[in-house]
Amino acid sequence: MPVVAALGAQWGDEGKGRIVDLLAQQARMIIRSAGGPNAGHTVINQLGTFRLHLVPAGIFNSEATNVIGSNVVVDPAVLISELEMIAAAGVTPGKLYISDRAHVIMPYHIQLDQLEEQAKGEARLGTTGRGVGPAYADKVNRIGIRMGDLLHEETLLSRLTYVLEQKQRILTKLYGVTPSVSLHETYLQYLGYGRRLREYITPIHPIVQRALEQDAPMLLEGNQGALLDLDYGTFPYVTSTATSAPGLLQGAGIPPNRLNSVIGVFKAYTTRVGAGPFPTEQEGSLGDELRERGKEYGTTTGRPRRCGWFDAVLARYVTEVNGIDTIALTKLDVLDSMKRIRICVGYKLHDTELDYLPSTPSVLNAVEPIYEELRGWNQSTSHVRRFEDLPEEAQTYVARICELVGARLGMISIGPERDQMIMITKVF
Ligand code: IMP
Repeated sequence: MPVVAALGAQWGDEGKGRIVDLLAQQARMIIRSAGGPNAGHTVINQLGTFRLHLVPAGIFNSEATNVIGSNVVVDPAVLISELEMIAAAGVTPGKLYISDRAHVIMPYHIQLDQLEEQAKGEARLGTTGRGVGPAYADKVNRIGIRMGDLLHEETLLSRLTYVLEQKQRILTKLYGVTPSVSLHETYLQYLGYGRRLREYITPIHPIVQRALEQDAPMLLEGNQGALLDLDYGTFPYVTSTATSAPGLLQGAGIPPNRLNSVIGVFKAYTTRVGAGPFPTEQEGSLGDELRERGKEYGTTTGRPRRCGWFDAVLARYVTEVNGIDTIALTKLDVLDSMKRIRICVGYKLHDTELDYLPSTPSVLNAVEPIYEELRGWNQSTSHVRRFEDLPEEAQTYVARICELVGARLGMISIGPERDQMIMITKVF
């Protein structure tokens, strides 16, 4: 299985970081294809706990090559501090390359992200405020600055002169904000980032192509979750780019016919940060219990996550849209003390049953989940390392999820440590 994609299959925060960390130990190339510092992948290993926002998890594998792909939006300050954090921890890092086509998050993107959210009032999306949406908007508008531009003084100056003036006009005229930095200061600051990151910024095509030719095990590390995909997620409560398997290929520059397997990372229940419909959300004590047991607070923003039951309607949809063939089920142990566990198997809208994801938020908000109730197992699973040693009720729950989702079981995590994993299917 040389080329494997691992993607979050709900609304993000499925525990992708640890699955990707595990697979990255076996892969030779790890590619973060899309998204930006809105992501927060928690990796726990012998050197400590790391929250990675931009650097691929393969950085902890000294034999691996890591690539930040072309559809990533990079905040150079965040990336530099992440590299410093990794160096300070005494890691012998794998190689790192950053696509010269990746776009740069500039200070005005962060400012605009926050101002646009405030201006939306009740209709705000609950973005992470990291400038991701405005940076992608500039890319689509073809006025973005790319990582490669940071290495070319004249290109940087001429692009920045145009864009900065335009943004400052928006900031003053639309939001009444006085620009706090000059063109000169911004130019020097970003030129400095370019110098600092020069050794990593490069065309990635030859590097990726060589790995494909050698049939090297390659891992495409997903960003956010499939339900936050710009096209197939719960628009407008989504992120500003693709989070899907095809999106990962696009950002890596890998042709679709080279993809061998898609692993969907599903949490054993569901969470969501930010606004938007969430049919199986539990707002009372049950939601609180899941949040506390699962430590469901955002890695990037610290916000409490909304929690609810596993939604098999959404899970099946995501599986079909992304070609997920293997399930990585995370945080099963969070359900250890539940007496009864529910799975949403369908939606009811007035008198009609729906078995698909409606695209209009007000319709998705109005659906009533149809639940199937299963017995809980009421005992700890965190010591278990073989599927057949799980309590019978836990086996039944997992098997039912796989049946409803329509993919085989690959692995189950039952705690945050690297070894708290039940492996069922070999990936590479
Ligand atoms: P943005 O990506 O910062 O523009 O935020 C858009 C939506 O995606 C918001 O609801 C965020 O909470 C959500 N989001 C972005 N990144 C992540 C992530 O890594 N995990 C979970 N939610 C995310």
